[in-house]
This record gives sequence, structure tokens and C-alpha cells, in this order.
Amino acid sequence: MELTPRLQLAADFCLPCKAVIDVGCDHAYLCLYLVEQGTERAAASDIRPGPLEAAKAHIAACGRSDRVRAVLCPGLEAFGPEDADTVSICGMGGEMIASILEAAPWTATGDHKLVLQPMTNGHRLRKWLADNGYTIQREQLAREGHRLYVVLQARGGRKDACGAENGYLFTEKLLTDPLFPEYAGKLREKYEKSRAGKLSAGVDTSEEDEILKRLEEVSHGA
Ligand SMILES: C[S@@+](CC[C@H](N)C(=O)[O-])C[C@H]1O[C@@H](n2cnc3c(N)ncnc32)[C@H](O)[C@@H]1O
Repeated sequence: MELTPRLQLAADFCLPCKAVIDVGCDHAYLCLYLVEQGTERAAASDIRPGPLEAAKAHIAACGRSDRVRAVLCPGLEAFGPEDADTVSICGMGGEMIASILEAAPWTATGDHKLVLQPMTNGHRLRKWLADNGYTIQREQLAREGHRLYVVLQARGGRKDACGAENGYLFTEKLLTDPLFPEYAGKLREKYEKSRAGKLSAGVDTSEEDEILKRLEEVSHGA
């Protein structure tokens, strides 16, 4: 089973694990890869019947129906803390990921590894994690074509290391990532554009100013 670099990084963060729930599994690639790597059992869940049927067919075609079960449900609604030691939620918006975690308070106890890959609004997810007692333990970038994706490994139980000092855009852990300079360049471009738009509309740009200042500092090793 070959994964794309983004899902491969998510899988690397999941491993080692004994039992995983992958929320928003789509074709169940992640679960199938993880059981191939020795994970004992996996639940591939999705809110939509279409992707879940595709997942079921794929699981059967790989001969893994004994170790990977497909579950139709929104978020973590059908699960409890005993169902997994690892939960992955990848390929969704940061706010959606936060709302899925919020609806499953057992993810905040610290007993579960959480692998999160926000497609958008990563800063909102980081802020939500910080405000709700989770810590980001690892953070890394993956490249697919011209796009960079960030993957987070988080755990409940503490209230720091979510990147507040960087406007919740990244934690210090990302600073040593070889892709970080390129990522920082993309962030700079985005916030410069947003600042210019706000300036021409006569709107306050203090948020952009703060972020651009911090990006300048980290690019000079501050
Ligand atoms: C873009 S795909 C990502 C698939 C895979 N996780 C990945 O990262 O490649 C998003 C999937 O999440 C599912 N999804 C969206 N919201 C969901 C929710 N609240 N609960 C469960 N699944 C959800 C969608 O149906 C879709 O299959």
C-alpha cells in the first residue's frame, strides 16, 4: 500500500499504535496501511455513505475485513475511549476537526494519541487545542506538488505548546523542519496580501502586522 506524502506523514505519526480510528476515512487507505504495518485493529469511519462503501470495497479487496471495520457516523459519535489508542482526523478544515474533538471529550484525557491534518484554518485548530487543554507534541510538513501540508500529533492533558507566541500558525517544533522556510514564505505572502486588502479598505491590520513581525523574527532565528 503506497500512500501520498501527506498521508504517509500522518501514518508515521500514528505508528506505533495498536488500535486506530480514522475519522473521514474516504477509501480507508490510512487504516489499511496501518494494519499492514502491524496495527491490530482499525475503524475506518465516514459521515457519507458513498466514501464508506468505497472503503468497505477496498477493505474487502485487500482481504482485511477481519482487522478493519467500516463505520458510518459523524465524527467520533459511534466510538468511545476503549475503541482505540490513536485517533486520526485528516483532510478536513481545522474548525471541523476541532468540533469533532469537542463532541468527544474523552479525547482530552491524555490517553489517546491524536493525529490531525487540517487543510485550512490550522491556526483556529491550534488555538482550540490550546484553549481546551491539549498539547501539540509533534508537527511536520509534507509536500505534494506545489502544496505544503501540516500534520500535528497532539494529546490531551496539558495546556501549552500550541503556538500562541506565533499567532497559532506554527509551534517552535516546526522551525527545524527543512520545509519551514518555504512554508514561512507562503504564510508571509498570504498575510501581506491580507494586510494590503485591509489597508485599502481602511481596516485595522494589527493581526497581520503581528504575524509578519513574528515571521520576520523566525526567519532571522529569533
Ligand atoms: C477530503 S476527504 C479526506 C480523506 C482522508 N482522511 C485524507 O486525508 O485523505 C474528507 C472526508 O471526511 C469525511 N467527513 C467530513 N466531515 C466529516 C465528519 N464530521 N465526520 C466524519 N467524516 C467526515 C468526508 O465524507 C470525506 O470522505
